[in-house]
Amino acid sequence: MDFWKQFKPGFTILAPMEGVTDIAFRQVVARAARPDIFYTEFTNVNSYISEKGRHNALERFRIEESERPIVPQIWGTKPEMFSETAQALKKAGFPAVDINMGCPDRHVVATGGGSGLIRTPELAKEIIRATKQAGLPVSVKTRLGYSKVDEWHSWLAHLLQEQPSALTVHLRTKKEMSKVAAHYELVPEIVDLKNEISPETTLIINGDIEKPADAQKFIDMGIDGIMIGRGVFHNPFCFEKTPREHSREELIDLMRYHLDLYERYQLSPYDPLKHFYKIYINNFPGASEIREHLMQTKSIPEARAIIDNL
Ligand SMILES: Cc1cc2nc3c(=O)[nH]c(=O)nc-3n(C[C@H](O)[C@H](O)[C@H](O)COP(=O)(O)O)c2cc1C
Repeated sequence: MDFWKQFKPGFTILAPMEGVTDIAFRQVVARAARPDIFYTEFTNVNSYISEKGRHNALERFRIEESERPIVPQIWGTKPEMFSETAQALKKAGFPAVDINMGCPDRHVVATGGGSGLIRTPELAKEIIRATKQAGLPVSVKTRLGYSKVDEWHSWLAHLLQEQPSALTVHLRTKKEMSKVAAHYELVPEIVDLKNEISPETTLIINGDIEKPADAQKFIDMGIDGIMIGRGVFHNPFCFEKTPREHSREELIDLMRYHLDLYERYQLSPYDPLKHFYKIYINNFPGASEIREHLMQTKSIPEARAIIDNL
């Protein structure tokens, strides 16, 4: 059975977020309330293939068994490298592979990768075909278009002609970055287009969803799954089936777990870890002072000492 067909309508995914959804943070989310599926951060196919970049790439594909099902996401511009990387991922035991065709980062776009592929649609097709050669289910995560919303029809139709196993649509263009509201008004038409061209493709939507219940109306319209990214910063428990209030202690325990995992996996440097502290130290009297204090820390033991004293 295709990997994607095992999930019931309304299934949830933690969005891939570079510098955020590493092995430590994915496990934090799994402990808080796990989504049905995880994704790895995106990884460049050139680095996976080259001797020099392999170490970094392998770090990004490091997972714990408890995180499964987890889908590795790759990006690049060379079809043959996608094929080779997908073969290696299959050998490593991953059940599927996702191609990034939506990243708006200017360094990525300058190489022609990520959302840059929206401007080279024939190459995008070649990449899907090459990745499929490994025999894994291949999905694509993309945006509505490059600069104009009305590109959505031709771009998504173009991708669907390749019959990807799944298609995740971040409901904005590359140009819109994350600055405007997601274009939910297009969902019914996107469902129709998918059913017309590639009815077997699993359809996932993404953009501004804070909790699964927010997307129920889209599931009723024929969307199969939802992907949440930044919502997890506002509420790490956002994948809870029955949402409830969480105490300050629960949030601090999650932070403690995050610190432990960061140490256990020897992740470094320390400073990027500080970006996460506002997830846990938030919404209670004195939280901003504690955060300020935490921002001055230079190591995990220092941060741990502060929260242990709360
Ligand atoms: C810090 C950060 C890193 C991201 N890295 C990736 C990535 O590696 N691959 C990807 O497909 N999208 C990436 N994205 C985009 C998210 O997966 C998602 O599409 C976007 O945040 C919109 O969803 P949201 O409104 O639920 O956050 C990233 C977003 C953020 C904020």
